[in-house]
Amino acid sequence: MKIVLLGSGELGKEFTIAAQRLGQTVIAVDNYENAPAMQVAHGFEVINMLDGAELDRIIAKHQPDFIVPEIEAIRTERFYDYEKQGITVVPSAKAANYTMNRKAIRDLAAHDLGLRTANYRYATSAEELQTAVEIVGMPCVVKPLMSSSGKGQSTIKINEDISKAWAYAVEGSRGDVVEVIVEAFVNFYAEITLLTVTQNNNPTLFCAPIGHRQERGDYQESWQPAVISDSDLHEAQEMARKVTEALGGAGLFGVEFFLTHEGVYFSELSPRPHDTGMVTLAGSQNFNEFELHLRAILSYPIFEITQEKAAASAVILAHEHSANPTYTGVEAIAALPKTDFRLFGKPSSRPYRRMGVALVSDQLDIPIEELVAKAVAAAQLVAVNP
Ligand SMILES: Nc1ncnc2c1ncn2[C@@H]1O[C@H](COP(=O)(O)OP(=O)(O)OP(=O)(O)O)[C@@H](O)[C@H]1O
Ligand SMILES: [Mg+2]
Repeated sequence: MKIVLLGSGELGKEFTIAAQRLGQTVIAVDNYENAPAMQVAHGFEVINMLDGAELDRIIAKHQPDFIVPEIEAIRTERFYDYEKQGITVVPSAKAANYTMNRKAIRDLAAHDLGLRTANYRYATSAEELQTAVEIVGMPCVVKPLMSSSGKGQSTIKINEDISKAWAYAVEGSRGDVVEVIVEAFVNFYAEITLLTVTQNNNPTLFCAPIGHRQERGDYQESWQPAVISDSDLHEAQEMARKVTEALGGAGLFGVEFFLTHEGVYFSELSPRPHDTGMVTLAGSQNFNEFELHLRAILSYPIFEITQEKAAASAVILAHEHSANPTYTGVEAIAALPKTDFRLFGKPSSRPYRRMGVALVSDQLDIPIEELVAKAVAAAQLVAVNP
């Protein structure tokens, strides 16, 4: 099968490797040359994926069987046409299109499906934001409708924060519409990603829940299994089942939840492998999240997902700008027991750019905090040099 991969970061790279192993052909696309997935794909294209005409051009050129989006910043409205042309958009044009805009997915989840979410409102100006904040209450979180990785996101604690939050959201907004969602702050004690696999002719399956910690809008550590009660897990699975069913198609989704003493809150989802799911690269499951995504796409039946080990991941970040980053400490991390790592091969670095990930695993009964601490210590051994 021929796959056009839209977005060629580290997640796309692992997906491409999984596809290569099963003999598929991948054309990797991104807006810069030598992106991680391009280094392992059969071919590549460098385009602005928000430009519909450019997208049309490369789809017409390559005539793929599948379009696999790896990021949100794509002119996803075009996907409906590609579906009509007989190309499978993964997991579906609707899933990719709804999740690129927080309004579409939130209204589907909260309004149409009745999932429990933070109380929320939308605003298209600083004045409307003021009114919205009065309704949802403080503290609350403001996010541009079109953004990811925490861009343009801030928390309002006092009235004076409102105008700043608006300006910051406008600045961090991608796309043509400037509109924000304002959500009541959820006082969660933990947040999880539930990797959910929908299949064409087989039942929906769930991976063991993944715990994670976020900073500056990006995940820092993730671990599997996360500690969660059976009833909360069941509730999260039912919510994930509903929302993925409504979006349609086959593939792996990363469904994000907040765990609170008042129950489980749906937050958002990615209709594709999730960055916190990189923990599955540690061999925690019979198939990692990229292999699961690929198998579901190809309609290869997945009989079960088994958890083989407990695992944790910690990100390896750059701290400086560089057009030619190098690494030290690689021998040190390589020497650690029950530890593995990835360096993504990104051609340049900038502060906080994710350049690699440390992966540790051990038997299932080990206290998960110990594994997380080990992953953090392992990641700290590797330095990205300018
Ligand atoms: N209503 C909320 N209450 C408390 N914390 C929140 C709320 N919304 C978001 N957060 C925190 O901010 C993080 C990022 O939010 P969210 O996942 O909505 O944004 P994002 O930009 O789409 O992030 P990403 O693309 O990296 O998943 C969450 O994982 C959570 O830690
Ligand atoms: Mg998120």
